[in-house]
Amino acid sequence: MDIGSFQGRLEALRVGAISDIGAAADLDALADVETRILGRKGELKSVMGGIGALPAEDRPKVGALANPVREAIESAIETRREVLGTAALEMRLLAEREDVTLPGRSLWRGGLHPIRETEREIARIFGQFGFVVVESPEVETDALNFEALNIPADHPARDLWDTIYVQPPTGTPEAPPDEEPRWLLRTHTSPGQIRAMRATEPPIRILTPGRCYRYEAVDASHGFEFFQVEGLMVDEDTSMGTLRGLLDAFAHAMFGAGRPTRFRPGYYPFTEPSVAFDIQCVVCDGSGCPACGRSGWMTILGAGMVHPVVLRNGGIDPERYQGFAFGMGTDRITMLRYAIRDIRAFLANDLRFLEGFPA
Ligand code: DAH
Repeated sequence: MDIGSFQGRLEALRVGAISDIGAAADLDALADVETRILGRKGELKSVMGGIGALPAEDRPKVGALANPVREAIESAIETRREVLGTAALEMRLLAEREDVTLPGRSLWRGGLHPIRETEREIARIFGQFGFVVVESPEVETDALNFEALNIPADHPARDLWDTIYVQPPTGTPEAPPDEEPRWLLRTHTSPGQIRAMRATEPPIRILTPGRCYRYEAVDASHGFEFFQVEGLMVDEDTSMGTLRGLLDAFAHAMFGAGRPTRFRPGYYPFTEPSVAFDIQCVVCDGSGCPACGRSGWMTILGAGMVHPVVLRNGGIDPERYQGFAFGMGTDRITMLRYAIRDIRAFLANDLRFLEGFPA
């Protein structure tokens, strides 16, 4: 054998080895390739065994030919080993992965207060009949809260024990001495009627929702702070029939289409005639239960034709216009809608209660 063919065998070994190393699919396969080529009885050894067949003068050249081949093979094995090792480690990490995290707790983003939601529903229903919402202040004068509404000076509602009187709000202009206003927290939303009549011309169709205050002993159905929605319609041919039809539509939209309703005679100083508007009890459907005092009916609002004196106090000619008004307790309506038993829940600020309502 001459040195040329010895070199050819080395080169063939190198090419084959590099390709086998590249094809090794895992570390074990690579170790097999390594042993087969570089091992004690390996292919390189056997090629080197051919030295004996070379002419003596060529033998010193063998080292210079064989060493680069061995180094190339060793370095290819090393590189391949690193690649396969990293991949194996990654596979292992994936396989043994343990998710120690818990899913995040989503935060409650807040929602409408049930009273507010009911106010909006009331406004939506009456809005279909052309009623618009106007605001009226919570700090009110005795004159608008009582006098203008035809509530006489000796009416028990004016008693200090029912009404919360307050100092004039700061920034209130001085009143002339002869008509020094007495300030109070409105006991109902009805003064909104006078403000609306004085501010606009008929036809009038307004709702004034909001907070009212009375000096009350607080229990499951009474708060000293509560909510009402007032309604007022003034026009040329407004009648009890219009009122009845409107309230029926309201009751059916709010409590279900089949819900029976009724008018009962009532008394309010600011309406004549006055009525109480009842719906059939939503708890027992009329058979009589503790919730309706065994009567089968529940009163949801007071109403009536606006008293001519009140129209006049609002600057409206009662000979030309008639009107009706109604006032309902928003707390009570909300309690009926959601079967809430205690009015105090509304203002207790307990998130466990508040979170129970649609956002
Ligand atoms: N203001 C009355 C109250 O607080 C409710 C009411 C009754 C309002 C009859 C009205 C009405 O407008 O016509 O008890």
